[in-house]
Amino acid sequence: MTASQTPTKKRILTGDRPTGQLHLGHYVGSLQNRVKLQHEYETYILIADVQALTDNFETPEMLRANIREVVLDYLAVGLDPKLCAFVVQSLVPEIAELTIYYLNLVTLSRLERNPTVKDEMRQKGMGDDVRMGFLCYPISQVADITAFGAHLVPVGNDQRPMIEQTREIVQRFNQLYGEVLTLPDGLYGEFGRLPGTDGQAKMGKSLGNAISLADDEATVTKKVMSMFTDPNRIRGTEPGNIEGNPVFTYHDAFNPDKERVAELKELYQKGGAQENGKPILGDVQVKRELATVLNAFLEPMRQRRAEFARDSDYVWDVVRDGTARGRQCAGEVMEGVRSAMKIDYPIE
Ligand code: TRP
Repeated sequence: MTASQTPTKKRILTGDRPTGQLHLGHYVGSLQNRVKLQHEYETYILIADVQALTDNFETPEMLRANIREVVLDYLAVGLDPKLCAFVVQSLVPEIAELTIYYLNLVTLSRLERNPTVKDEMRQKGMGDDVRMGFLCYPISQVADITAFGAHLVPVGNDQRPMIEQTREIVQRFNQLYGEVLTLPDGLYGEFGRLPGTDGQAKMGKSLGNAISLADDEATVTKKVMSMFTDPNRIRGTEPGNIEGNPVFTYHDAFNPDKERVAELKELYQKGGAQENGKPILGDVQVKRELATVLNAFLEPMRQRRAEFARDSDYVWDVVRDGTARGRQCAGEVMEGVRSAMKIDYPIE
């Protein structure tokens, strides 16, 4: 469906970098909202290969392989390619074009203040070796969002600064050139941020603390059993802390049996021993139950993933179709931008 056929539906644009399989953090932050809203909004999902290149420009083949993985993840969680256009970023030249124009509307010091970019620079140990492409990727993300005229951007909490930057540029652009760009809102996962299995604030594949949606049962169990818990609880008979304890955060996020979660929390905080001296509730038990919950949650996704992976052409068919719809949409928005900026010259 093209934008012009359904002018009443509002649009969603969001995206992921194809740097690896998607994980539980992506699910909680954004995928869940996308699945929920795909019927209500005209949805575009960007496979952000250009953005991923900004810090992976030496390994483009890695990104190429991961486009397929990410699309399989989309299909596995239940995104319907008829409702959502899966769009490859590098195939939409309008995004690159918009990025150049937006660079005039932002200062170097504003870019250097972006907290997510600062975190990433630290995490990746960039030191003084910061590339312009990397520093400017938030501007390219503004172009991603506005090229599709998005009203809503479902993303994880870590993307808040990108939405703020987008709103600033849209307001500035519209003030200068006329009301052409759509001012978008972010939509953040209800649950907040899912910590890594090591207790770090953010789950990330490159941080080695992620549970991927495609992980098999044994892998999930192994990762859960080695999760960080309360470091001060030496014995299971001691009272434990549930705050900042990712095992409980995951129970909150994924365990449908809320009563059991409440009971686990109470017992864990109390501590105490059974008659035989064993803990009433040890870490191992809490983790075993979590592994069961996560495996039950992931199993239908694994099955769908395997089905879609069987037909090797299917993923590329879906991406070809989605990218064509994306280009159509971005092309229409770009016409408005060019005319507002008075660069719609009367020549071909
Ligand atoms: N920066 C996002 C992330 O790392 C991915 C992304 C690229 C994105 N372009 C986007 C998200 C546009 C929302 C909108 O997860």
